[in-house]
Amino acid sequence: MNTNTPLSTNPKLLQWVQDVAALTKPDAIHWVDGSEAENEALCAKLVASGTFIKLNQKLWPGCYYARSDAGDVARVEERTFICSKSKDDAGPTNNWEDPVKMKATLTGLFDGSMRGRTMYVLAYSMGPIGSPIAANGVEITDSPYVVVNMRIMARIGTAVFKEIDKAEKPFVPCLHSVGAPLAPGQKDVIWPCNKEKYIVHFPETREIWSFGSGYGGNALLGKKCFALRIASNMARDEGWMAEHMLILGFENPKGERTYVTAAFPSACGKTNFAMLIPPEGLTKQGYKVWTVGDDIAWIKPVNGELRAINPEAGFFGVAPGTSVKTNPNAMASLAKNTIFTNVALTPDTGEGHGVWWEGMTDEPPAELIDWKGNKWTPSTVGADGKPVKAAHPNSRFTAPARQCPTIDKDWENPAGVPISAFIFGGRRPDTMPLVYQAKSWEQGVYIAATMGSEMTAAAAGTVGKVRRDPMAMLPFIGYHVGDYFKHWLNMAKLAKMPAVFHVNWFRKDANGKFMWPGFGENARVLKWIVARAKGCPCAKATETALGYEPAYEDLDWTGADYPKAKFDELQAVDVAKWKAEVEDQAIFFAKVGAKLPAELTAQRDALKARLG
Ligand code: GTP
Ligand code: SPV
Ligand code: MN
Repeated sequence: MNTNTPLSTNPKLLQWVQDVAALTKPDAIHWVDGSEAENEALCAKLVASGTFIKLNQKLWPGCYYARSDAGDVARVEERTFICSKSKDDAGPTNNWEDPVKMKATLTGLFDGSMRGRTMYVLAYSMGPIGSPIAANGVEITDSPYVVVNMRIMARIGTAVFKEIDKAEKPFVPCLHSVGAPLAPGQKDVIWPCNKEKYIVHFPETREIWSFGSGYGGNALLGKKCFALRIASNMARDEGWMAEHMLILGFENPKGERTYVTAAFPSACGKTNFAMLIPPEGLTKQGYKVWTVGDDIAWIKPVNGELRAINPEAGFFGVAPGTSVKTNPNAMASLAKNTIFTNVALTPDTGEGHGVWWEGMTDEPPAELIDWKGNKWTPSTVGADGKPVKAAHPNSRFTAPARQCPTIDKDWENPAGVPISAFIFGGRRPDTMPLVYQAKSWEQGVYIAATMGSEMTAAAAGTVGKVRRDPMAMLPFIGYHVGDYFKHWLNMAKLAKMPAVFHVNWFRKDANGKFMWPGFGENARVLKWIVARAKGCPCAKATETALGYEPAYEDLDWTGADYPKAKFDELQAVDVAKWKAEVEDQAIFFAKVGAKLPAELTAQRDALKARLG
């Protein structure tokens, strides 16, 4: 078979590559060195095949555009499996299949699945290459789109193969195929994929097999599949945490940085919070936010404290809603060397297209090409007579983290950053106040475990329905949810646990409008959180049924005109709503079943009693 020079001498890896090639029957094998020249050649190949459109390079240097198949636009949770030996180890929140049976099914699907295509062997490191906390994976994929995206999202190439050759740690084998073999002479489509999709994890053998999708977390296997589902298993076994969290540093006027993490479900504001620019009233005093990561945190106990790293090297961020007003740091990050997927295109000026998405500017351009490739104007309506969105709600940008103007000086520090607070929060149109603090670690775990949020377009499903999304990890916990809660509680034996807070930027009024301005204004809440976490006597709070809540005077409102009455409404505990909330939590607890830690039931009972 046509192959370039293998970049590894690791016998396990060489054998695996040979076995996969024998099964999937590609035309050629390409070991990915990660170089600039190779990347340019791959992008040129993607342009030639129609998958990529090279954007106007004057406006968007180094940027490309891709439009996916209309049936391959988000993570597919229904098609995601945790194949542990015992069904009980996968628990009630995961799809399960017997690993032997599943391997047989997948082997059938992968047989010949790469015919007519090149098979890429892509070594990647989650975390800085060679760092003791980093972990290596090898993704074998037949998608050059995946290769060029992974080059932004992780550290890849020759240096990672060298690490794997040292064989100090096992690498995680990740097998990916879009599942669209080509017959001789058959013309390719611009987004090859298969209607049948399988995103499969084998936690005991630390393996990933993904079939049929080329999109996001289904295909960029270092991200959700490795850094969360497999890594959560590694973390439980080894005494650390792999979480769906952003990491940021809050700097005070003295120049001291306090680091916090925040777990918000998919498309609920992590990227925005991680890159937040405080309002003028706070920046003038010298408060600043620095970005360490926007999606995933690996958190390890070191000398009695928790330290976190961002295992990723890029942002795979939600495009809609991102603008110079809401998130200028994201806009700067994506200004060059970025891949856009499923946003809209502005007309070709002769020098190429630009990109646009809902919320990028106040007014849409007069004419666009929408994410499906159709001509679009602001008055375009669908068959149902409703306005059509130009960009898909889950359209994304893949941008290098180092391009973020607020990237933290320690974002690649192999020792990570010390964590002082865990923040949780989802999209809750009612019930949940703007912010409150747990009174203990156990209460914090209970609040995180019962977190609810409206579903978003990040996953295929019903958008807008409130579901329980414990720790923002419902789709990403790679084992039994009850064991996961127990692991969280147990972490308190390994390190001093940070203070825990719950926030809600998404409360709505009777007209369905957001009651809180959000974005930069969230810094006012963050300032209070950091002061509380640090135990500063300057940060006052009142004890309520929920925990500790700030009064209006307890937040810094410098330069703001947010009315006290509205804030009081946001913070008020509506007892009837909360009683319904606690009942709904019971339904989820029943689902968790016998493995639900008694500490969490006790916390719920105590809250119920406090509500009266
Ligand atoms: P994933 O990458 O899917 O894990 O999502 P994420 O949590 O990083 O979400 P992101 O920050 O990309 O935000 C998703 C959407 O929420 C975007 O459309 C944002 O504009 C919007 N959003 C973020 N923060 C706020 C906020 O404070 N208030 C309001 N109203 N919307 C927000
Ligand atoms: C999410 O859905 O939480 C994401 C996007 O961050 S994906 O990488 O597709 O999982
Ligand atoms: Mn995410």
